[in-house]
Amino acid sequence: MAKILVTGGCGYIGSHTIVDLLDHGYEVISVDNNSRSDGNAMKGIEQITGQKIKNYKVDLCNYDDTFAIFQENTDITGIIHFAAYKAVGESVELPLLYFENNLVSLINLLKCVQEFSIPHFVFSSSCTVYGNPAQVPVTEQTPLQPAESPYGSTKQMGETIVEQFAKASGTHYILLRYFNPVGAHPSTLIGETPIGKPQNLVPAITQTAIGILPKMYVHGSDYPTRDGSCVRDYIHVCDIASAHTLALDYLLKMEGRDHINIFNLGSGNGVTVLEAIHAFEKVSQLKLNYEMGPRRNGDVVAIYANNDLARRELNWDPKMGLDEMLLTAWKWELKRKAEEQQNKQIPGLN
Ligand code: WQD
Repeated sequence: MAKILVTGGCGYIGSHTIVDLLDHGYEVISVDNNSRSDGNAMKGIEQITGQKIKNYKVDLCNYDDTFAIFQENTDITGIIHFAAYKAVGESVELPLLYFENNLVSLINLLKCVQEFSIPHFVFSSSCTVYGNPAQVPVTEQTPLQPAESPYGSTKQMGETIVEQFAKASGTHYILLRYFNPVGAHPSTLIGETPIGKPQNLVPAITQTAIGILPKMYVHGSDYPTRDGSCVRDYIHVCDIASAHTLALDYLLKMEGRDHINIFNLGSGNGVTVLEAIHAFEKVSQLKLNYEMGPRRNGDVVAIYANNDLARRELNWDPKMGLDEMLLTAWKWELKRKAEEQQNKQIPGLN
């Protein structure tokens, strides 16, 4: 049974990917310093799979602590590297925080890949590497435009670092370019848990609908799109997770042979912000309290994927449509609210 190290395993995509890896017979360990996540995801993974996963609470920016994980686990076959900060808007305000965290952690990890000859490496990249694409949908061959945010720059630089390192070290690697991961595991035992005010659209919608936020704002209504709001490619987090397991299967199967290294992970459908809001109102049967607001720095106008390559090479078949994605996100928000109310009734728990 191949042993996989998942960095950022307590995070949104990391936790869903661990569930999928376990469901497909992989052995998994996690490293996550919980700076942007909490231990609840590990409990949810255990409840879903019946397997308790070890998480090393280590900051990958600390090389010695990272190295120690590999000394303790000399049988790691592959790494899936999720751990990074990922809020486009925040990265515009705090570029150095993003460059230091996202790049130093990656370099430390690759030093360990070299030191311990880890054969397979999957890098969590992003559609933000395309910048503002000249045309959509984008394929993996679409030329990269300048990144619109420091977050996007860290993903462009990260891809180059992984590619150049792999060329020198012979490591087999895959870059997975996510579009907009949304939704939650159908069990509602794991999901997206933004810390503080949500930066991403779907948690902003569900937190407004449930009353945590009094109102939400649509960032921009004057873009050259069909309704003036930005176009994105929303893809269910479980479909993103399954692509990671398929990417590892592909790497293990292609051992030593040349293979394709870059895949778009998107649904292939472009959806505007307003269309997502209206779809949510339909599935939740609620009227959402939102207002048109100013554009947000760092946003691209429109981007969505051509996902033919991942479908063909990885046998990836994303299943969830937008309504179902939003319904799982809403059920997760409702579950969190119910749990919070239950906890309030337990004396001494607050
Ligand atoms: C989507 C749209 C906002 C909040 C994300 C991830 C990034 C990467 C790509 C994986 C934009 C608008 C948002 C709100 C709004 N994924 N919006 N009101 O910026 O596309 O990036 O997907 O790597 O990591 O962050 O996603 O959800 O922040 O924004 O109008 O309250 O929704 O302006 O047009 P984004 P997002």
